[in-house]
Amino acid sequence: PLPIARTADALRETVRGWRRQGLTVSFVPTMGALHEGHLTLVREAGRRADRVVASVFVNPTQFAAHEDLGTYPRREAEDAELLAAAGCQLLFVPTVEEMYPDGFTTSVSVGGPSQGLETDFRPHFFGGVAVVVAKLLNQVQADVAVFGEKDYQQLLVVRRLARDLDIPTEIVGSPTERDGHGLALSSRNAYLSDDDLARARRLNGVLAEAAVKAADRRPLAAVERAAYAELLKAGFERVDYVAVRRAEDLAVFANGVMDAPARILAAAWLGKTRLIDNMAV
Ligand code: PAJ
Repeated sequence: PLPIARTADALRETVRGWRRQGLTVSFVPTMGALHEGHLTLVREAGRRADRVVASVFVNPTQFAAHEDLGTYPRREAEDAELLAAAGCQLLFVPTVEEMYPDGFTTSVSVGGPSQGLETDFRPHFFGGVAVVVAKLLNQVQADVAVFGEKDYQQLLVVRRLARDLDIPTEIVGSPTERDGHGLALSSRNAYLSDDDLARARRLNGVLAEAAVKAADRRPLAAVERAAYAELLKAGFERVDYVAVRRAEDLAVFANGVMDAPARILAAAWLGKTRLIDNMAV
């Protein structure tokens, strides 16, 4: 069975042992309820280093009070089996008390790529992600950490964080894993009814159509408006955003047309489930 470290000390001891043998280490942080998307990150991590550490921690600081922290799926034994089969050698599962002991008071505010988009609708989110990812990267001390493009804004925030705080771990992005209908795999897809699943599968198609128009240098405001309407027509009850942004830093295109590599990003609701997706334009 996959060894599990439940404290940062136990984690460090194993990693130090590997280091003494001259082995390189990669790291994949997750919140568990693992699916094929997470496992592609683990396999990528395995290609990039001799040993792979994964973490499962449902991080309370990135959930708002009204969000799904309490019901977020938890299945450690199954996750451990999937991780071992994908080539992971150590699972780090800290407790909330281990990560946020009494008196914990430090915050990490990244600015830059964390502004707008997700932050307009989940203002607490990147503060929580930044603090937990900074801690995890410091705890594991990996050579490389792999993050999914599925959470594109998060990937840019983590890159910025690692650069700005001189965290020596290289941050690597890995492409989004999708089901046969193009729906980005997500632990939250488990919340969807069959009807909702059919609607959810329209999200990537709408984005792909909008991406073609944006690449055609059509005015982005109109492209975004049309995609927004398409998502409502496809059965999404609410659309938080659809936006075409500069791929490098998520800056708004000042001229209103695409004049540099771009990314189209969206967040939309089906019932109580919020889906996000993005793709290169
Ligand atoms: P979680 O949602 O569990 O995702 C863990 C990692 O898996 C993230 O890097 C995410 O982008 C990636 N991922 C999720 N679905 C994917 C898919 N379909 N294809 C490729 N990669 C995918 O993101 C988090 O957890 C947390 O915010 C975390 C970074 C662990 C901090 O708490």
